[in-house]
Amino acid sequence: MRVITALLILLALGSAELRKTRSGGGRGRGRGGRGRSGTVKRYAAECKEYSEAGDKYLDCQDRQLTAVATGWPEDISHLLLARNKIQVLRDNTFSQFRNLKSLDLQQNDISMIEEGAFAGLTKLTTLLLQHNRLQVLTEDVLIPMPRLRHLRMYDNPWKCRCELDSLVRHLQVPSHRNLGNYAKCAEPANLRGQKLKKMKADLLCPELQEDNVLKEPEEIPQGPITAKKHPDATTTCRTYMFPKPLLDCRSQDLKNIPADLPSDIVKMDLSKNSIKQLRPKEFVAAKDLKLLNLSSNNIDRIDTAAFAGLLYLRELDLSNNSLHYFQYGVLEDLYFIKKLSLGDNPWTCDYNIHYLIYWLKHHTSVEYSGLVCNSPPEFSGWLVEDYVKTYNAECPKDILLGQTDTAQELTAETEESETEQLPQPLSTHKKFEITRLS
Ligand SMILES: *[C@@H]1O[C@H](CO)[C@@H](O)[C@H](O)[C@H]1NC(C)=O
Ligand SMILES: *[C@@H]1O[C@H](CO)[C@@H](O)[C@H](O)[C@H]1NC(C)=O
Repeated sequence: MRVITALLILLALGSAELRKTRSGGGRGRGRGGRGRSGTVKRYAAECKEYSEAGDKYLDCQDRQLTAVATGWPEDISHLLLARNKIQVLRDNTFSQFRNLKSLDLQQNDISMIEEGAFAGLTKLTTLLLQHNRLQVLTEDVLIPMPRLRHLRMYDNPWKCRCELDSLVRHLQVPSHRNLGNYAKCAEPANLRGQKLKKMKADLLCPELQEDNVLKEPEEIPQGPITAKKHPDATTTCRTYMFPKPLLDCRSQDLKNIPADLPSDIVKMDLSKNSIKQLRPKEFVAAKDLKLLNLSSNNIDRIDTAAFAGLLYLRELDLSNNSLHYFQYGVLEDLYFIKKLSLGDNPWTCDYNIHYLIYWLKHHTSVEYSGLVCNSPPEFSGWLVEDYVKTYNAECPKDILLGQTDTAQELTAETEESETEQLPQPLSTHKKFEITRLS
């Protein structure tokens, strides 16, 4: 029974963690589920305790909690309280958790935080307060956490008036680079949409700066107008920090990639929207991205530089879109890609599709699926690779007339790999193919 529970938790942690656990804690589990990483204890509020890479986690997410219960283990490093019903954080709420490094309070109903709520959290580095109902907060609340490096507080209705002055000035200190990014004023009207990080702090207290009252508000571009044009990731999408930072923008009726992508996300789900094209450099901010899901949109154009900066992307899901081919160069930024899902697209088996096949031939470790010709009718239903093979076999040189240099180069390359398949001494390419089949 205990082993089954442990297995379920492991599955929920995702395959990456699973692999880590297998190599790291495999011996522990072999001894009967008492090893560190496999152990799961349950507490009164049905929280789960587990260890990952030597850190203890207490996962109390999605449990309708209205407060921190007594009796929770005190030696934990990470406390996950996302998606509960907490409204107020009283003084010393967390002071027993002296080892806490991260505290996730996002997606609650928090509207009030007492000044000493975070007292004792001297080791805390990450505090997540996004998607709550906070209007005011003073710098004093942050003082007990000298190591705080990541503070998220966007999607709260910040009231940009005098009471917020000390907080805004704190966030704007240059060394506080990752504190309070993306948080915006909800009121007053003339400051709505302004980022706390970037606004002129003097505007918060116009009473103190008489001459600003009349001049400044008019000079400020109206935030909400630009926001409507290009929806903002932090308000449209949900972020989850555990087990991996995920930005979930599924089914939001998005027509474009949202602006202001957080820089530290590892997975992004943009599936089931109405995105039609991917413009240059739309993902550069999300440089740590490993999984990008763009399935079930209407994408029919991908700019050559669309994936610029996605150096670490491992998996790209483009299935169920309107793609006919990839422009030459589209895939060149994806150095570490391992898996491409391409099914349910109207791939057109003509000359333009050759780049994709050429690229796949030179990136033999990439697993791909769904490359089937949709048109022209004579090739409909064929595997795209088979189409390219017949093209090279039947029309070796004459079709090249009139093609560009790039096209010639491409054909030369694919032809070359064609001859490799004739019996002859093993070439390096051939070796790669054998590896892939096994
Ligand atoms: C992408 O999203 C779709 C629909 O939301 C889902 O079915 C699919 O499994 C996702 N792909 C990946 C690689 O996670
Ligand atoms: C494919 O995308 C369309 C919308 O573009 C959606 O209605 C349909 O359910 C998707 N199909 C699958 C298999 O996800």
